[in-house]
Amino acid sequence: MRNYWSFATAGEIILGNGSINSLGEIIGKFKARNVLIVCDPGIKQAGIMDKALGILAEAGLNVIAYDQAEPEPPVCKAIECYQFAKNQNIEVIVGLGGGSSIDLAKVVAVLLTYGGDPKQYFGEFKVPGPVLPLIAVPTTSGTGTEVTPAAVLTDEEANLKVGVSDNYIRPAVALVDPELTLGLPPHITAHTGMDVLCHAIEAYTAVEYRYLPVTGPAIYQGTYELTDTLALKSIELAAKSLRLAVEQGHNLQARADMALASVLAGMAFSNAGVGAAHALAYPIGAECHAPHGLLVGLLLPHVMEYNLPVQQERFARVAVAMEENINGLSVKAAAMAAVNGIKDIIADIKMVSRLRDLGIQEDLLPLLAERTLAVTRLLRSNPRRLTAKDMEGILRNAY
Ligand SMILES: [Fe+2]
Repeated sequence: MRNYWSFATAGEIILGNGSINSLGEIIGKFKARNVLIVCDPGIKQAGIMDKALGILAEAGLNVIAYDQAEPEPPVCKAIECYQFAKNQNIEVIVGLGGGSSIDLAKVVAVLLTYGGDPKQYFGEFKVPGPVLPLIAVPTTSGTGTEVTPAAVLTDEEANLKVGVSDNYIRPAVALVDPELTLGLPPHITAHTGMDVLCHAIEAYTAVEYRYLPVTGPAIYQGTYELTDTLALKSIELAAKSLRLAVEQGHNLQARADMALASVLAGMAFSNAGVGAAHALAYPIGAECHAPHGLLVGLLLPHVMEYNLPVQQERFARVAVAMEENINGLSVKAAAMAAVNGIKDIIADIKMVSRLRDLGIQEDLLPLLAERTLAVTRLLRSNPRRLTAKDMEGILRNAY
């Protein structure tokens, strides 16, 4: 039994409309002159990179920009970006974009500090010490990577998602400007928003920290009061505003709610952990390359239903946070209201709700279930044990 918890997040969180304009000032605090920006071609096209470059030029900084990040970045992109920046005396890195650009920036921060190959840092606690200061500027509200200790890459040779997970790669600053998300198309808003809900709900209903079946240090520690508070507030905000953010992309209040929900969920899950929806999404993602948020969102209600018997009271509180009507319901029925509430959101935002619609063959389900067993780092914080058969059952329900 574990008898204490710890909490880590980004060094500083700055959140608000127009906060991007303080980027030069923030870098000034690090006494840095030479800055690397990591972003992708879409961010460049949207004019967000030029906006950031303008702000940094005004601050008199020397900036080089790597704009070739891509979704689920392959390991070779991290090497390419590292080679691009290696001899430039970089002192601060800005990860500007969706989760992929920020994750790439995290790995490059490790490489610029310690050298070597990305592969030597895969896993937990493999980063030797502090890395170059990283400023994470998200342009989606989803992964929470602006506050988390994880960076996910794709190992192309093994066709596997691989991750670096270490508190040393939590960004020094999370600079969250909801205005940067105004131009996101509805489907990306929907997918990333479901990732937020999945982080918050899996973090809130994970195993309690005292009973996490791990000895020794763990980044994902199970639930405790602090992560509970953050997760519940995140659920409340996302349940209230995700539909609006999808349907009215320029509704700044809905965008601001989702940006805050993403940060709060990131703070919660990057300490408490996530569960079976995230674990199952790993092998499925490698198979069909569907967006992460779509996959975890699609799986979420089915995983909730599986976990429901051991977390009824918590799921009932999720229903309350979602403003579901639970008057007169038993605890079990109230918990089920949370599951149905998530299904309603998925329908309302017109997201794919069945694995069959992603081109996955039904006879592949047992193999996908089997492969999920290897994702022990996530499964150990799931509140209910899962055999391969149990996971296959969840996948069949989601098919
Ligand atoms: Fe996620």
